[in-house]
Amino acid sequence: MKNIFPLDKFRELRTPFYYYDTKVLRDTLSAIKKETAKHSNYHVHYAVKANANPKVLGIIRESGLGADCVSGGEIRAAVKAGFPVDKIVFAGVGKSDWEINLGLDYGISCFNVESVPELEVINELAQAKAKVANIAFRINPNVGAHTHANITTGLAENKFGISMQDMDKVIDLALEMKNVKFTGLHFHIGSQILDMSDFVALCNRVNELQERLFARRIIVEHINVGGGLGIDYDHPNRQPIPDFQSYFVTYTEHLKLRPEQALHFELGRAVVGQCGSLISKALYMKQGTNKKFAILDAGMTDLIRPALYQAYHKIENITSDEAVEMYDVVGPICESSDVFGKSIDLNKVRRGDLIALRSAGAYGEIMASGYNCRELPVGYTSDELV
Ligand code: LLP
Repeated sequence: MKNIFPLDKFRELRTPFYYYDTKVLRDTLSAIKKETAKHSNYHVHYAVKANANPKVLGIIRESGLGADCVSGGEIRAAVKAGFPVDKIVFAGVGKSDWEINLGLDYGISCFNVESVPELEVINELAQAKAKVANIAFRINPNVGAHTHANITTGLAENKFGISMQDMDKVIDLALEMKNVKFTGLHFHIGSQILDMSDFVALCNRVNELQERLFARRIIVEHINVGGGLGIDYDHPNRQPIPDFQSYFVTYTEHLKLRPEQALHFELGRAVVGQCGSLISKALYMKQGTNKKFAILDAGMTDLIRPALYQAYHKIENITSDEAVEMYDVVGPICESSDVFGKSIDLNKVRRGDLIALRSAGAYGEIMASGYNCRELPVGYTSDELV
């Protein structure tokens, strides 16, 4: 376990920092390719929101995946990393005019539209540029997912998408507009989903909606089922590569597509989650009334998931083999929620030990903030540290 990290190199670096194991990332991408290669109509767009580190993006682009973006900044990051514009899709409930214009100027492959007013603005802005924008409607499928409440998105109560009952109406509107071309339907039910039955429920719902469209002789070019496949946070070493086979087979078995229809996926966490770790240094050990604290130099500003979603990240003392002791592992930020884990077994921690927070490749570095005037953590890849 300990020798998976280049400790000598780590000791030269200022902590905290993110470390990306490019072998894990490349193996993950190969596993995705292996499964999707079985279907010429399956296309994966990497959800850039999970991690936009340029070095990570570059490796993902090399593998041939497209990019799913949710802001103008992400579109720029994807273009800079070399993603072909015809493999970039743009989603998001609140696209600003400049972001829509940027997408139009680049000629991205699709805007995933979430409301009628947005549709109207895209049509107007495209008209001003004498262009036609490909659009898909994001439909809220009212399908729940077994995951944290903050990261479910497909319920009627969520702000995302257009309700199912409005689907036909918005399609009719789009079909009458001159500067948008209706090409697909988009869905996303949530994130960190490990129960394949949630995706089966989505397939069933998509099948129903497609039947409604087939009855109207509408066959969309593509169905986009979003992302959401989870990773094993408990055992980052045991199963570093998510079970892509089960994931894609679920769609193959349950989603009814016409032969000419393409199926798009937007995976984020499953692509980058397990390749990344946040590496920090133990600053002080403090004996509290009933417990012992290990105070790290990394805090919730570097990895906010535990504070925001009560997320579990495996914590390891990567520089000690001493007998295990129990700690509450906390950061230096002036917030009581700045806690990475309570009652965690770690090899005895001494000042200066390096502590890894595992499975932090997704929604880690990208969600870091400068709160408390802290510097943003740097991300290094294993390719750079040889
Ligand atoms: N497509 C859409 C429309 C999305 O909203 C998301 C994620 C994805 C794809 C990618 O989902 P993934 O494959 O990564 O599950 N910050 C949270 C996760 C927020 C996910 C937001 N949407 C976390 O740290 O758990």
